[in-house]
Amino acid sequence: MTDIFQELQDMMPASEKVFERNTRVLAQEVVGTILLPYKFYAAEAKGSRVTDADGNEFIDLTMGFGPLLLGHNPDVAVEAARAAVEKAMLLGIPNPYQGELAELLVDAAPCAEQVVFCNTGTEATMYAIRLARALTGKTRIAMFDGSYHGAHDYVIMEGVLEPDPSQPSHRPQGHGVPNATTEQILFLPYRDPRAFELIESNKDELACVLLEPVQSSNPRLDVGPYLRELREVCTRNGVLLILDEVITGFRLGYGGGQERFDVTPDLATYGKILGGGMPIGAVAGPRELMKPFNFFGEDNPIFSGGTFGGNPVSMLTGAAVVRHLHDNPEIYPDLRRKGDRLTEGVNQFLQQGDYPAQLLHADSMFHLMFTRESVERGRHFDESTMMLENRYYAHLMKRGVVVPGIHLFFISAAHSDADVDLVVDAMCDSFRALRSEGHV
Ligand SMILES: Cc1ncc(COP(=O)(O)O)c(C=O)c1O
Repeated sequence: MTDIFQELQDMMPASEKVFERNTRVLAQEVVGTILLPYKFYAAEAKGSRVTDADGNEFIDLTMGFGPLLLGHNPDVAVEAARAAVEKAMLLGIPNPYQGELAELLVDAAPCAEQVVFCNTGTEATMYAIRLARALTGKTRIAMFDGSYHGAHDYVIMEGVLEPDPSQPSHRPQGHGVPNATTEQILFLPYRDPRAFELIESNKDELACVLLEPVQSSNPRLDVGPYLRELREVCTRNGVLLILDEVITGFRLGYGGGQERFDVTPDLATYGKILGGGMPIGAVAGPRELMKPFNFFGEDNPIFSGGTFGGNPVSMLTGAAVVRHLHDNPEIYPDLRRKGDRLTEGVNQFLQQGDYPAQLLHADSMFHLMFTRESVERGRHFDESTMMLENRYYAHLMKRGVVVPGIHLFFISAAHSDADVDLVVDAMCDSFRALRSEGHV
């Protein structure tokens, strides 16, 4: 019997060639912390499908790591991007193209009266943290185990749950982050009321609590009461609450996690869907709290700005897509229905076959957990599970479905009911394959 990794590679000779070329000159591909046991390079994409360098077509569940709520290259985004390029790719000089997207975001986000744009979610959380520090005069920031808030020094931390998960410590993911930075972070236990005590006892040092309304490492919709209580605890203790809506904004509904869970943070960060497929980040908040962004004002000015900020292509493409979402609200219940159907199909199969796995989801975002136990916290890497997962996703790819190496996946409005059926069949069949190999 040939190994699944070899079988896949045999389908992808052109990808192997790309690998040889790239590894000579690229120190890393797109995302670190992912080690794939085969070489796979995507070349083109449309709707729910991606085509690799060899011309093999797959149903894509990567969706660009989340931005592509309408699928790959939807006409509305492509036309807007083309028209934008015709006007100007980049101006630097203030331009009329930021206003509409800012208005749309202010309209959609309950906490927002004003917006500052940047180019990535990483920049957005960096600026939001800087703003919180300027506003409060305090420096420490709190975040939760299982969270992801981008790649900059202050947030690229992982929780250490041993010996007591309700008192997590933390460490940087990878080297190069100074201890002085690590010490500025307080890690909180996710979905655990002990977090509220920690906020209270550290309130004099804490500038903000930063969290995702739904964690991508642990997607679930039963978090509303916890978020609302956290809101109260932060208010009572003079600590700003920042909701990181980089994934959830325009995904859990037009108003994102704030609308879905009826919780209004002090500040929110955005990215991904907001750019309609082009690079973007944003910080949004009430006028009063956004004042420090005015560098020439009197209220604790902070620096923000970058070469590509507010570029016409991101602004006009983002506005076209967000306007489309606004004008087509049926997209959201439809995505929810498909997400539920996909999850129920897979979970029923897993339970009936007593497989050691379960699919977690929040509408159109998913995470497959390789455990039978009830999942409390986001996934933490352990090598043997990682190997099993890689094998599983290789089987899935052999059956025509791509899940990205980070193993968080999405469906889009371009995924039809027939696509969902194909994904369910392929996911179930990949578990059968793992079992026939003796792995589960
Ligand atoms: C919740 C959250 N915040 C921030 C980021 C960072 O965004 P970007 O990759 O655009 O820098 C991500 C990226 O996945 C994210 O999921």
